[in-house]
This record gives sequence, C-alpha cells and structure tokens, in this order.
Amino acid sequence: MIYPLEIKNLSFKYAQEGKNILNGLNLKISSSEITAITGPSGSGKSTLCYCIMGIIPHIYQGVLEGDVLIYGRPVSKMKVSEIAVSAGIIFQDPDTQLFSPAVEDDIAFGPENLCIDRKEIDRRIVESLEMTGMQKHRFSDPDRLSGGEKQLIAIASVLSLNPDIIIFDEAMSQLDEKSAARVRSIMGGLKKSGKAVIAVENELKNLKMADCLYVLENGVLHEEEING
Ligand SMILES: Nc1ncnc2c1ncn2[C@@H]1O[C@H](COP(=O)(O)OP(=O)(O)O)[C@@H](O)[C@H]1O
Ligand SMILES: [Mg+2]
Repeated sequence: MIYPLEIKNLSFKYAQEGKNILNGLNLKISSSEITAITGPSGSGKSTLCYCIMGIIPHIYQGVLEGDVLIYGRPVSKMKVSEIAVSAGIIFQDPDTQLFSPAVEDDIAFGPENLCIDRKEIDRRIVESLEMTGMQKHRFSDPDRLSGGEKQLIAIASVLSLNPDIIIFDEAMSQLDEKSAARVRSIMGGLKKSGKAVIAVENELKNLKMADCLYVLENGVLHEEEING
C-alpha cells in the first residue's frame, strides 16, 4: 500500500549540533485522518515537519538518514516546487507566511509560482477564502488583521495549492479559543475531503479531534491512546 506520507528510519542531526534530533523515526500517514504529534518544546517537532516538507535537506543542512516518502517518492529527490504541490505547512507565526499588501495576493502567491492559469487561480482564491470563512477580507491588508485572522489567511494561502498533506505546526498556539476552534473545524473539513492532516501541538487540548496521537520524545515517536 502506498501512503500519502511514509517516514522510514528517519534520523537527522543539524550540521552544527552534536547529537541526533530525530533518531530512527517511522510513521505512516493516511488520507482522511488527522494525525496529531505532540512533545516537549525542543523535542524536534518542527524539525520533523521540515523533513516532511523537504526544507531539510533542501534548505537546512545536516546529516540525514532514512527516507521521507510522499506517495512513495523520496522528498530528497523531489524539487521543492514538486513537494509544494503535495504537501503544505502552516507555521505558528502567520507573519512568516504573509508578505503581500493584499490578502488575495498572498493566497495567489503559491499557485502563481507554479504557473497555474489566472482563471484557476481566481477559483482557488474564492475557494480558499470560503474554506477559512475569510471572504470579506479578500482585499484587506494582512497587516491590519488580527492574529487569528492572519492565521486563517496563512491557512488559505496553503489551501490554494490544494495539497494532499497539510501540516499545522503549532498553528493554534497563538490563537484565542474562538480562532483555535475555527482552525480545528477547518482541519475537520480537510479530513472529510480526503486530506491527510498533521496537527503538531504542545497543548493536548487542541488535539481532541485527532484520529491518532504520537508523542515525540528523545528523538523517537510513540503512539498513544487518544483518551489515555
Ligand atoms: N535551523 C536549526 N539549526 C540548528 N539547530 C536547530 C535548528 N532548528 C532547531 N534546532 C534545534 O533542534 C532542536 C529541536 O528543535 P525544534 O525542531 O524546533 O523542536 P520543537 O518544534 O519540538 O520545539 C532544538 O534543540 C533546536 O535548538
Ligand atoms: Mg516547533
């Protein structure tokens, strides 16, 4: 069986660091599921996300062993633009993802880079705004939005690439409860539409909707009971 995402014996050490951050990780991620990953601060959750996105080894260097496979293809052998079609990531701080003067430009940025035609980009802008409930902010300046609204626009800017795998790396940690609830409901909608959702969070309260839960500690992943 070919999974949207499969991690095989993945180990990684940053170039300037002494020890492995990830140590022989194995994980299979399925479509139509929300997979939660938690673990203490500094345990390597974001590093794992970078490996999935190909940011490691394409941008950050170090010693990488094992494989991250997207539909059976190693990300180390894919171009960053190819990976972006299949996998998208939303970071904790939406300011790292938004840089255009108008919301619609941020949402169009990914598809424009892939040379998708204008009509299709327009359709995706409308669809991404609908999915995040941000229609009325299409022409707003992202800088003038609240933290929660910015995070929803950051999500829309990832959804416009329509990736099969969507990673939320502590995307709820700076949000108030109302905005966090909105993000959880978007995750639920993505799951329903067949996406593989990965929710990385420190706070277990934000992971109640997950189908399976892993804890990253000392470089390895352990599966835990959801209600345990
Ligand atoms: N770009 C980097 N270069 C070197 N070390 C890094 C880099 N990013 C993170 N680290 C180190 O890797 C470890 C894991 O960090 P991180 O993956 O951000 O953990 P988490 O997301 O679980 O808080 C930390 O010790 C951190 O200092
Ligand atoms: Mg992190």
